[in-house]
Amino acid sequence: MIVALMGYMGSGKSTIGKELATVLNYKFLDLDSVISDAEKSSISDLFKKKGEIYFRKKEAFYLNEILKSENHVVLALGGGTPCYGNNLQLLLKQSKVSTFYLKLSLPLLSSRLFKEKNDRPLISHIDSEEALTEFIGKHLFERSQYYSQAKHIIDIDGKSQQDILEAILMYLI
Ligand code: S3P
Repeated sequence: MIVALMGYMGSGKSTIGKELATVLNYKFLDLDSVISDAEKSSISDLFKKKGEIYFRKKEAFYLNEILKSENHVVLALGGGTPCYGNNLQLLLKQSKVSTFYLKLSLPLLSSRLFKEKNDRPLISHIDSEEALTEFIGKHLFERSQYYSQAKHIIDIDGKSQQDILEAILMYLI
């Protein structure tokens, strides 16, 4: 099985993914890190030097590779992964893939991301928390139609890491 975690930037896909992989005794893969390692570049630099379209091509390519060749893996997707090309269809049509949407509300996303925005090329230029909230609000609205197609939706507002893990595990065992 491959457990694929989707959700907006800052929703904790990697943090939860690592914990979940430990509990399941699975390997943990972070799609951004796979791209970053293969391209020998940070995601921010990749956006700066090669542009977003290049990044999206690599994202689709490595997602395909992982789905083809891996098993017993927890995979943290990038925030945009299910929203481009046929990535979402690919994730949904494979019976070995279980998709989860870690759903966090706009105010919580915004306050988290304002502190962590510098590593994120799509929002690093936004300099007030108010403007960031406005941007994320629109972006999340556009992306929700993709995220909400995940097999399981976990509302994570106010939940501890342990609560989130238990909620995911409930669907897996
Ligand atoms: C992106 C999210 C990022 C990374 C890239 C684009 C997005 O991943 O893939 O900066 O389009 O939402 P995280 O969700 O892990 O921050």
